[in-house]
Amino acid sequence: MPSTVIKQLLKQRHSVRGFLNKEVTPELLEEIFSLAQHAVSNCNTQPWKTFVASANVKDNLKQNLIDTVMTGTKPDSDFQYYSDFKGEHQVRQIECAKALYNAMGVERGNKAERKQALLRNYEFFGAPHVAIICMPKSFEINNALDIGIYLQSLMLIMESFGIGSCAQGALSFYPQIIKDTLNIPESMGVLVGLSFGYEDKSQLANNARTSRAMLSDSVTFLS
Ligand SMILES: Cc1cc2nc3c(=O)[nH]c(=O)nc-3n(C[C@H](O)[C@H](O)[C@H](O)COP(=O)(O)O)c2cc1C
Repeated sequence: MPSTVIKQLLKQRHSVRGFLNKEVTPELLEEIFSLAQHAVSNCNTQPWKTFVASANVKDNLKQNLIDTVMTGTKPDSDFQYYSDFKGEHQVRQIECAKALYNAMGVERGNKAERKQALLRNYEFFGAPHVAIICMPKSFEINNALDIGIYLQSLMLIMESFGIGSCAQGALSFYPQIIKDTLNIPESMGVLVGLSFGYEDKSQLANNARTSRAMLSDSVTFLS
């Protein structure tokens, strides 16, 4: 198998935050999520429970989330959420926000436009589909590793079919609304969402690109 395939998928995938009004066929949805079942997990526990919302169900979820956010409901989370980044992590966090706002033409000081851009998370950036990825509420960080591997698998599989996606921690902030709307059992915790569909290349947000740290900043080879 040519290694160029995985190289290309890893390099060309980027977060897509603007989609065409075109659904992925049910057959392709099934193929994508079947392939992702091959993701590795600790003791093969496969802790992901994924709910893929499309059409009316997706629209209902969007409306319920927007209503919730607009009424000023405080964010909540089924799992601990750390975001107080410092040092190099904070530098990268700021760079990534800047890349997005610059691409969208949103001024740093324009709070209203920044809020509008944040709200796009709860419109799934106009995607025709959103996957809500859960694991049992009682699970912890070691099990969340498996969800991360599953998530990257999904994104690369989608990329291989020409489908863009954006992982969204923001979709873990209102878990009860999501569980009520999608009939997700109370024992499940919402860890992350993934909006996906065909990229609308004309949307400015899709011009945002992020960089990566130098290899020596991340990896130490010892011998
Ligand atoms: C677990 C996870 C959560 C994320 N949450 C959000 C989010 O809530 N909203 C958003 O717009 N992007 C979100 N992203 C996308 C990242 O900002 C993006 O992947 C990162 O900046 C690298 O850019 P790239 O995907 O274009 O390579 C998330 C990514 C991951 C992996």
